[in-house]
Amino acid sequence: MDNEIERAFVYATALGLYELYINGNKAGNRILAPEWTDYTKRVQYQTYDVTDMLKTGENVIGVILADGWYIGTFGQWGDDALRGKNYGSLDRKFLLRMDIITDEGKLISVLSDETWKGFSDGPIRSADMFLGEIVDARKAVPGWDQPGFTESGWTAVEVYPDPGIDLVAQMNEPIRIIENLKPVSVTEPDPGVFIFNIGQNMVGWCRLLTDEPEGTIITLRHGEMLDEEGRLYHENLRRAKQEDIFITSGKGSDTFEPRFTYHGFQYVEVTGLTRKPDTDMLTGIAFSSDAEPSGSFECSNTELNRLWKNILWTQRDNQHSIPTDCPQRDERMGWMGDALVFSQTAIFNMNMAAFYTKWCRDIRDAQSDDGRFADFAPHPNWDKPHLNAPGWADAGLVVPWRVYQNYGDINILRDQYTAAKRFIDYVHNENPDLIWIEGTGNNYGDWLNGDRIKSEDYPEKGAEMPKDAFATAYFAYSTGILAQMAKLLGNEPDHRIYSALADSIRNVFITEFVTEEGIVAGDNQAAYAIALDFGLLPDTLRSRAVRNMLRALEDYDGRISTGFHSTILLMKELTDWGYTTVAYDLLESHRFPSWLYSIDQGATTIWERWDAYVKGRGFQDIGMNSFNHYSFGSVAEWMYRTILGINPDKQIPGFKKFIMKPEPGGSLTWAAGEYNSIHGKILSEWKIENDQFIFTVSVPVNTSAVIHIPSDFPESITEGDMEAANSPGVKLLEISENEGIFEVQSGTYHFKSEIQFQQNNEM
Ligand code: BGC
Repeated sequence: MDNEIERAFVYATALGLYELYINGNKAGNRILAPEWTDYTKRVQYQTYDVTDMLKTGENVIGVILADGWYIGTFGQWGDDALRGKNYGSLDRKFLLRMDIITDEGKLISVLSDETWKGFSDGPIRSADMFLGEIVDARKAVPGWDQPGFTESGWTAVEVYPDPGIDLVAQMNEPIRIIENLKPVSVTEPDPGVFIFNIGQNMVGWCRLLTDEPEGTIITLRHGEMLDEEGRLYHENLRRAKQEDIFITSGKGSDTFEPRFTYHGFQYVEVTGLTRKPDTDMLTGIAFSSDAEPSGSFECSNTELNRLWKNILWTQRDNQHSIPTDCPQRDERMGWMGDALVFSQTAIFNMNMAAFYTKWCRDIRDAQSDDGRFADFAPHPNWDKPHLNAPGWADAGLVVPWRVYQNYGDINILRDQYTAAKRFIDYVHNENPDLIWIEGTGNNYGDWLNGDRIKSEDYPEKGAEMPKDAFATAYFAYSTGILAQMAKLLGNEPDHRIYSALADSIRNVFITEFVTEEGIVAGDNQAAYAIALDFGLLPDTLRSRAVRNMLRALEDYDGRISTGFHSTILLMKELTDWGYTTVAYDLLESHRFPSWLYSIDQGATTIWERWDAYVKGRGFQDIGMNSFNHYSFGSVAEWMYRTILGINPDKQIPGFKKFIMKPEPGGSLTWAAGEYNSIHGKILSEWKIENDQFIFTVSVPVNTSAVIHIPSDFPESITEGDMEAANSPGVKLLEISENEGIFEVQSGTYHFKSEIQFQQNNEM
């Protein structure tokens, strides 16, 4: 550069993964760029402000390229998941444009073209998402990305023809380091085999500091659990080796850290060291799509606090440019059913607007030509299609709908509408009788429900809602959402058509799957929770169905038997029908299967299965047993909605108006938390003291809230130091037998009410 630089930006992307270096320094702090999209249709580019990285004179742009999702192994389809199979390519490609504006206002553009010096290999010998990375420090090429370097033996670059896919700016938050974790212990179960315990099931990789002699081969294997002998448990990872190999340079100390892989682990097995390590040698580097945290939760039951943390970790661990089912075994796909059930929890925990908006585009890209939504998005490897499973494909409507409800963004509905309509039309055309039995793909049903639990003392009554009823319930529910989308988008004809269709599906559901006694097909917890929550039952049968739901809990000895889809719905319906006490019992139960059971076994993330690990019986089903799967963590939605009482108003999106309905119960004597809505921070804090419910709530500027205060004497509820109904900014809406309902404008309020609180200490 001869001129002074005013500003300089780089726009870069790759098919594969890349890291960009300017004059020897890494640009930005992104990991695994350009992240994952349907590479046959689009790839995201990243923008870097490199003004301060350039200088007058010679400047050098260096790039490291790796396989990533584009070329490397991933997915669960056996040999078809191997290198080069998913997108049918073995060629990494890179594209860059640097725009420099000089102090004279001149624009100089540098492009990646045939004038680049060429490429060569270096210390990274191989890198793969599932298998891990091999780094040989002896092969480092000092100065390769700095001025003054003279290359020799480099191969000339090849310029590829335009692959004809869309280049789009990255809209979701980059994957970045979110936490560095120090191991809590090191053990040596076998001579020379060291196990570092990070203390938290995390996702990322390890940084290793070593001064071993030249050529020492250090192997790191990553796993989530230890077996009974204290050795690394690796079987549940299936084909994902999660193994990094570092070969030392011998030049003083080496710092190793992979760049183009990721692992799910709490334990790291290190072999090849010539002497015993201490914990300082290794750091767990956790990274994730860096969506801003938006929620917090705390209460008097420390185990519930742990549960909430486990759920948050599971979310972070499964957020790597798409929402994944799990981060460790040979899968890590954007399974849509899992995201559907977890999306409201995810939104409470973090600002998911950008992340889900990007993923909804992935969902559209993964839609088949005939209108079927995929079971996961992105959907690589069309030789093995996974399409249209009820409850999975439906995420194509449910997720954008939740984004709209929580963030008030009508654009996401506009963008998704045609795809959503094509999906509903497909299901309708295949099933003119309105029972969804055709075009159900792999038809997973209410996945991993109580029927999958085999344990001597666990009842076997039939926990699964029959698949035809489950599918038809979703057909009605999603069609109802489509009708509402049409209305909001001003498409009155479609609104009429799909409202009528949703009604017809509901009627068919009742005729086919509901008896006059309010028995829903399956007659189990799941069936009632789903039928009630999706609004499928006529008024006359609802309370009977609720009674049946309570009986279905008794059938299971008061224990939960629901699957991925119905678990959060059961909790919500119990509360909606006045059985919050029962919901608290489930939440605070330690009996198997339960959330706290997993915590009693030391879980730091949410398990895929209720019975992932059972005392005395060890690990379940080696074929499918992840300890980091968020679906059952959807219960955090209930914790925000019922314990903290924070609820979006279905009619008024984006928390412009919202509902606060805290319901104390179980063993809790206090709870506190917040949700940073797009309109500002909502605070909820309550305690029970001397038979008084004391509640502080903050309502953000320019919003209002409807507040429900539980009370035995609702007339005597106070706010500040006066009768609530007379307090400034508070308007009494309704007094019922056991609550007062008020509308409040923005501000902070302190309510008090009298309540005889039966604290449950029995758990
Ligand atoms: C995944 C799930 C997913 C399911 C489909 C599993 O292998 O891990 O979470 O939803 O397949 O049933």
